[in-house]
Amino acid sequence: MVESSARGRVNLIGDHTDYTGGLVLPMVLDCRTTIEGDYTTDGRWHLESADEPEPTRFAIPDVDLTELQPRWGRYVAAVVREMHALGIPVRGFRGRVTTTIPIGSGLSSSAALEVAVARLVLAGDSIHLSDSEVAQLCRRAEHSASGVPCGIMDQLCIVAGRPGHATLIDCHSLDITHIELPDHLEVVVEFIAPRTLAGSEYADRVDETRRAEQTIGPLRTATIAEVEAIDDPLIRRRARHVVSENARVRDFVSALTAGDDAEVGRLMVESHRSLAVDFGTSTPAMDAAVDRLMATPGVIGARMTGGGFGGCVVALRRR
Ligand code: GLA
Repeated sequence: MVESSARGRVNLIGDHTDYTGGLVLPMVLDCRTTIEGDYTTDGRWHLESADEPEPTRFAIPDVDLTELQPRWGRYVAAVVREMHALGIPVRGFRGRVTTTIPIGSGLSSSAALEVAVARLVLAGDSIHLSDSEVAQLCRRAEHSASGVPCGIMDQLCIVAGRPGHATLIDCHSLDITHIELPDHLEVVVEFIAPRTLAGSEYADRVDETRRAEQTIGPLRTATIAEVEAIDDPLIRRRARHVVSENARVRDFVSALTAGDDAEVGRLMVESHRSLAVDFGTSTPAMDAAVDRLMATPGVIGARMTGGGFGGCVVALRRR
């Protein structure tokens, strides 16, 4: 019997910046997805799930992702197919998936499933890939399984993150710095509403930032003065979020390491407002949750986390 697992993640600050090569600061959570079972020699996959009524069954390389049912199996098959395309020897597998990550809540249950599958395949033949290679193949798998043009944040944090540390990722260079969370702070994650990014306005936001980049060049190096010169008011707002959010990630890391709780909290709330007003990815329920958390004794900062349109809010609270 072999076992492979991967954690969920929450993002402390830096949302909707990854797909333009910006900065993000997610961290891995304690909850995780686990696959247990045995390799087979016939190239066929058969996985049961504790949370889904139907098992997934497919064979590599013949699988047609757009036809595969149930849909959760597409994430598994897409990873296996990516690895096969890279020339990695892929055996079959028969086993079971369990997860303690709430599904569809914006804590990256799909990325955790992808990374757990990739680790399983690599362990089968003692193959080593770098963290960024694993994350990039899982990101490609997410694109083909869900159609959502996500960035690299979730997969790279899940592959490389360390418990108790935030993972500062430069999504252009893929450089990672592990930032220890101070002992006096704890991370609170509150579920607000189910969401799926497929069919949401996520892809529109990716397009809108591309349109901004066609006007002023890469947002990761753009200045606020350049953003303010964009004619289209909607595109200007989207770009303003991204450029200001990258600066907030830098300032947040400085404030966190300097022990400046007031500044840490201020930046989280400013990030939330920017996502709500300029980027249009919050909801009234998420706005209300942030206000309620900010009125809770001990909470220093709160914001929506991840792709938005539902999902979770995150807060930092003094212990
Ligand atoms: C989702 C995507 C990530 C990232 C966030 C927003 O979680 O999968 O790549 O874009 O939304 O920061």
